[in-house]
Amino acid sequence: MKKRIGLLYGGKSAEHEVSLSTARAVTQALNFDDYDVFPIFITQEGEWRKGAQLLAPVEAIDQLQFGKENNQSLPNNISSFLPSTQGTGEDDNSLDVIFPLLHGPNGEDGTVQGLLEVLNLPYIGNGVLASSAGMDKVVMKQLFAIAGLKQVPFVHFIRNEWKKDQSYWLGKIETELAWPVFVKPANLGSSVGISQAANREELIEAVDLALKYDRKIIIEQGIKAREIEMGVLGNDTPKCSVPGEIKPLKAFYDYQAKYKDGNTAMIIPADVSQEVKATLIDHAIKAFKVLDCSGLVRADFFVTDDDEVVINEVNTLPGFTPTSMFPLLWQHTGVNYSELIDQLIELAIERHAEKQQLHYTMD
Ligand SMILES: Nc1ncnc2c1ncn2[C@@H]1O[C@H](COP(=O)(O)OP(=O)(O)O)[C@@H](O)[C@H]1O
Ligand SMILES: [Mg+2]
Repeated sequence: MKKRIGLLYGGKSAEHEVSLSTARAVTQALNFDDYDVFPIFITQEGEWRKGAQLLAPVEAIDQLQFGKENNQSLPNNISSFLPSTQGTGEDDNSLDVIFPLLHGPNGEDGTVQGLLEVLNLPYIGNGVLASSAGMDKVVMKQLFAIAGLKQVPFVHFIRNEWKKDQSYWLGKIETELAWPVFVKPANLGSSVGISQAANREELIEAVDLALKYDRKIIIEQGIKAREIEMGVLGNDTPKCSVPGEIKPLKAFYDYQAKYKDGNTAMIIPADVSQEVKATLIDHAIKAFKVLDCSGLVRADFFVTDDDEVVINEVNTLPGFTPTSMFPLLWQHTGVNYSELIDQLIELAIERHAEKQQLHYTMD
């Protein structure tokens, strides 16, 4: 029987456009003989709009953006908007699995995952805990430390702590870290609000900037290293892809410019020794497990000239267009884009089925 898959994309996020392109690419990769595909569009303003079943792959992203007539405002109409039980195929509104293709806050951070949990719908990718822990760089690093993963030294504080005693924090940073440092809002991605600081003056400026985006700030010691990324796929027995290197083509001060299309090269597989590769695999799996990930994760590392492997972060919904690192890593590992999506759908259904076995009462 054909599976009914809902694509959830767009979103109240800086990565709205990326999400639309990803959704289009996913429709092009899905086999319409195996799947009935239903689009669910979240506008830039956060309105949810449901489109008619797609009968063919989408060519232009315009086809994925629906007008007001498809409006279903949240949360009052949520119960009529999405099915409240797992799809049986009988109900016109039922879905077997949802594929959230939303990056950043309001999508990758566990909020949408929580909604899908409440609706008891199977969905692709990480659950509430992994998504929210993965979105907060401080919590993520604290968990990595528990897993024994090597990281750069860091200091963190919230806005009020900084306001109350700036000189204490400046002293602490200068004592515990070496220049340059990286200043980041704890809860954003895509390099938003991140800057490098080489002295006290720049540090204060960088903190002011980061505080525009978040109340929680992390200051990390800078490291001179290559950036190597690993794809992890699975639930209880996750597997790793080959490593890939991301290489800026020139030096960037603006970390957003750095990742614009055309500004970086991807080298897959990355040129690393067998020993480094084994460490990368070990650490990527440990990171996946300590955050209780499911489905997929991209684990990002620094590898120094003397082959030290230092974890930077994990992305619980990594870029997912066919030319993004995660799908390319799997392509080079023998899993093409369509197969990757098929596997993620199976993993989502497997995790959901396992959860249905749990007892929620004492008898
Ligand atoms: N401690 C660090 N040392 C050196 N470079 C860093 C450090 N932290 C971040 N960077 C650079 O900034 C980029 C973005 O930082 P990252 O923590 O990955 O944020 P994001 O979640 O926005 O991807 C990294 O890919 C890397 O190039
Ligand atoms: Mg990153």
